[in-house]
Amino acid sequence: MEILVVGSGGREHALAWKLAQSPKVSKVYVAPGNAGTAKDAKTENVAIGEKDFPALIAFAKEKKVAFTVVGPEAPLSAGLVDAFEAEGLKAFGPNQKAARLEGSKVFCKEVLNKALVPTARSQTFDNVRDATNFIYSGRESQFVVKADGLAAGKGVVVCDNKEEALDAVKRIAEDREFGDAGARFLIEERLTGQEASVLAITDGHTIVTLQPAQDHKAAYDGDKGPNTGGMGAYCPASLVDDRKLHWIEEKVLLPTVFTLNRMDTPFKGVLYAGLMMTPQGPRVLEYNARFGDPECQPLMFRLKTDLVDVLSAAIDERLATLEPLEWDSRAAVCVVMASEGYPGSYVKGHKISGLEEAAKLPDVKVFHAGTKLGENGEVLTNGGRVLDVVALGDTVADAKRKAYEAVSKISWQGSWYRTDVADKEIAAAACK
Ligand code: AMP
Ligand code: GLY
Repeated sequence: MEILVVGSGGREHALAWKLAQSPKVSKVYVAPGNAGTAKDAKTENVAIGEKDFPALIAFAKEKKVAFTVVGPEAPLSAGLVDAFEAEGLKAFGPNQKAARLEGSKVFCKEVLNKALVPTARSQTFDNVRDATNFIYSGRESQFVVKADGLAAGKGVVVCDNKEEALDAVKRIAEDREFGDAGARFLIEERLTGQEASVLAITDGHTIVTLQPAQDHKAAYDGDKGPNTGGMGAYCPASLVDDRKLHWIEEKVLLPTVFTLNRMDTPFKGVLYAGLMMTPQGPRVLEYNARFGDPECQPLMFRLKTDLVDVLSAAIDERLATLEPLEWDSRAAVCVVMASEGYPGSYVKGHKISGLEEAAKLPDVKVFHAGTKLGENGEVLTNGGRVLDVVALGDTVADAKRKAYEAVSKISWQGSWYRTDVADKEIAAAACK
């Protein structure tokens, strides 16, 4: 069979690579893809953007692809799955209504509260005056202000005091720093604790939970600096042990799936809970409606089960019949290599060297995120997050060592990366 993957990042490279491993698959098309998906065995790029629904539909029909996997949130929120289904085409991901779980933080909070899922207390506002009264009327001084809509991961402001909260409200609601995403906004209590990502695949009835992972959202070592899309990840994350994972399935994921059904918004696809492990227990910070990037990369590197079986069972609503997932027992660590200036502005088009040398190392895979092929077949930078270097090891420390060994072979003008990916996990393991 042939499959279409929509997107161009490291997540989509990892999904396409994993789907291509399946003996059932002859080709995986990636629209528009990157240099990594252009070069891998059994994958091929298609020059169609993720927003061009008519062209994507025409291509899926022409090639008679078995199904389409939608990677990023924007096409899901814009209704790509609805458009495909209207044409009788199979697509993996939530429809537009269900994708509001990620696309609207107000809707997400409504679902969490209806489902009695533990989350930060919050209130919704649509004007500065009411928000100011709220901020100054209580004893609480630390808030998080969140724009309602999609803001490329930037619409969340974590504040240390009331003045910062008021400033965030003004930026979101008055200056419209995030455009219409700020027409409504939430002010919520600020929680503390380590964060974990728990992703489950669901067909709207049954959930198949993936192994817990941890992202590294801050740009620099020691969790310092501005927020990014994620500078590294590892799995499994011992922060979420088996007992906690069961608790999260029972108290978080399943009630969410059932509540969405009751709200006539059945959700099919990836339910990605961004959790904070607070002293009072796990709390949901947000839901995403897709695989995490970069969490997807170490997850796919460890998953042994054929991903085609998992995704087609979800699309056809027969996840209940799927055998339990099989995982490589080793740990996986992913280090993101970025362009100079990221997450601010950066220059594209630098030539990347050392990819062949890194590829020779055992138990290592370099997934491409922001890359493109140059005219002579050379690999050039084409984004802020450029490469996701993943390695497997018997321990997290071993996987980290192997990942950084591969990273050390690769460079381009201004390339940089965090040097402490997975250190929290390694420190926790050392104390056991
Ligand atoms: P979100 O997009 O809602 O996941 O928020 C992005 C980041 O903001 C999270 O990964 C957390 O680091 C932080 N954050 C969000 N909500 C809260 C909260 N209620 N308390 C503390 N930090 C938060
Ligand atoms: N790794 C964070 C995200 O995918 O949103």
